[in-house]
Amino acid sequence: MRAWIRMKMTTTSAKFPHTMGDREATPRWFTETDEGHSRWYADHFRELVEEGRDVEGEARLVDALIAPGSLVLDAGCGQGRVAAGLHRRGHRVIGVDIDPVLIEAAGTDSPGPTYLQADLTTLDLAASGHGETLDAIVCAGNVITYVAADAEAATLEAFRRNLRPDGVCVIGFHVERYPMQRFDRDLATSGFTVEHRFATWDLRPWHDEADFAVTILRA
Ligand SMILES: C[S@@+](CC[C@H](N)C(=O)[O-])C[C@H]1O[C@@H](n2cnc3c(N)ncnc32)[C@H](O)[C@@H]1O
Repeated sequence: MRAWIRMKMTTTSAKFPHTMGDREATPRWFTETDEGHSRWYADHFRELVEEGRDVEGEARLVDALIAPGSLVLDAGCGQGRVAAGLHRRGHRVIGVDIDPVLIEAAGTDSPGPTYLQADLTTLDLAASGHGETLDAIVCAGNVITYVAADAEAATLEAFRRNLRPDGVCVIGFHVERYPMQRFDRDLATSGFTVEHRFATWDLRPWHDEADFAVTILRA
């Protein structure tokens, strides 16, 4: 198993005790990872960058899909590697993440974009003072599989609400954590149209045994 999806056996939800209505709404990023995971995750990408490894594949794909100077949300930006890659390519980027450790790391390690600590599941950028609707959203690195249990559909609906008509959303995740059938059902509810699906961010063809899916959606 890849180190960055290490699972933990004990819950840490007490450190993030927010609820949505009467049901538990703690992201699985907090309940399914070890204490200290966020710092480890930030350090991991710092090391990859220092080693000269490519951490911008997702940014290159999104850049190819959008107009110069687009307004882009990096949804679940982590330590900002994708946000920074898009910023370097001339886009206006807002990075949103719920993890305060990673939002702080993003501001230090990946300067340029605007970073906000917020919950994607209920995201309302206009209410946060960012009135312009988004041209694009990128949601890379299993973010949608780490929102609170059963909050995937609400997250997709929030993406759709914050995106301009005809805007593009690119989302990638491991399908064992969010089966395609359920994803496609949630997409239909949220009002997105599936334009393309691939098995990798470098556009290897999608097939039914693929363990990863990259889906390009149109609002
Ligand atoms: C595996 S990391 C991916 C980070 C980044 N996208 C990347 O690819 O490097 C998953 C991220 O999703 C974020 N996340 C999970 N649930 C969230 C939520 N409800 N709202 C905002 N961010 C969330 C976590 O805080 C974490 O940074």
